[in-house]
Amino acid sequence: MTQSVSPATLNPDPAAGLEGIVVARTSLSHVDGLQGELVLRGKRIEELAGVVPFEDAVSHLWSDLVPLPRTDLQDAFAAARLNAVTALDAIAAAPDDLPVIDLMRLGLCAVPEYPELPAAVLVSGALPVLLAAAARLKKGLKPVLPDPALGTAEDLLRMLTGTAAETPSIKALDRYLVTILDHGLNASTFTARVIASTQADMRDAVLGAIGALKGPLHGGAPGPVLDMLDDIGTPENAADWISDQLTKGKRLMGFGHRIYRTRDPRADVLKAGLESLPPDNSRITEAAAIEQAALKALARAKPDRPLDTNVEFYTAVLLDAIGMDRDLFTPLFAVGRAPGWCGHVIEQQQTGKLIRPTSDYVGPQAAA
Ligand code: ACO
Repeated sequence: MTQSVSPATLNPDPAAGLEGIVVARTSLSHVDGLQGELVLRGKRIEELAGVVPFEDAVSHLWSDLVPLPRTDLQDAFAAARLNAVTALDAIAAAPDDLPVIDLMRLGLCAVPEYPELPAAVLVSGALPVLLAAAARLKKGLKPVLPDPALGTAEDLLRMLTGTAAETPSIKALDRYLVTILDHGLNASTFTARVIASTQADMRDAVLGAIGALKGPLHGGAPGPVLDMLDDIGTPENAADWISDQLTKGKRLMGFGHRIYRTRDPRADVLKAGLESLPPDNSRITEAAAIEQAALKALARAKPDRPLDTNVEFYTAVLLDAIGMDRDLFTPLFAVGRAPGWCGHVIEQQQTGKLIRPTSDYVGPQAAA
């Protein structure tokens, strides 16, 4: 419902971080922070991740918005991957010290238009190619071109490594991409909607969303989660290390959430995915023990604020277990979240309404 805001109705003390304020209506996903439930267009995340491939989950998320049947979507994503190859020259010409995520943004600007493809497909389908090429070019390796016969997760792994991926890794990456597909009005999705509301295009909205995603309080957290696990070493060191961090006022990466007051269901979906991977990985068992130590310490340190495991903790463990470098964690997040951003962009375009809130001026008054 649209409300008119006159100066008399302005809230002089707006909730910090817009917490609890509804600013959009969506049919894409719902996050129930008290029950610890995530629903994507009527299906719980547990019914999708690890159950259906990425393309099916996107097709489900986009129904009514980008009405492409599943088989057509796989072909359309393949066409978008091939279309993105032209942009690799721009990535190759970029300065060496740019991180992969910035090379992806640069590449996305250079992806040519392809009028037969919906913008959501063109953009979402390009990102895996840009990611893999950027990662290889940074290592001095030639990009591997897409194989249109493969699904997104399988082709992404092949383009990264240059060899056919093993089934457990493909399934784990596919599960990850579905798990993070959409998640209410998180910071990057809100950013995408704000940009879309100005009638800038899909590509602009996704470029901005990636910028918001990078921060360590959002999609930049999983790399630091792995740094934390490395610093702690073995679970015996966990209690002292964690207590030292909390005493210094530092945050534990991979814990806490704006909406969840209980466990983030995506953490368990990803943890379950670890069971299908080879069991000879001590990091997995050690991470579970460190997680328990962190939860105990957080409950002691912040008794009034339930702080539980969020998606980023097991993102780090899962992506590390399938051999992904930590500088690829946030870029992979962007690949999985892009269809969600695009869905929100289309919804926002349909409203036709500019997002333009109001600020509370606290600076000096102009001279009379
Ligand atoms: N470790 C230690 N303390 C924490 C943590 C944490 N991970 N998270 C929140 N707190 C504390 C804060 O210090 C604050 O304490 P105070 O009231 O004594 O000052 C209290 O809990 C509330 O914190 P806020 O920042 O107000 O809560 P908010 O809802 O804004 O923060 C956030 C959510 C940013 C995710 C926070 O929990 C955090 O920084 N977590 C670590 C980073 C992280 O894992 N990010 C990924 C989130 S998932 C995603 O975006 C995909």
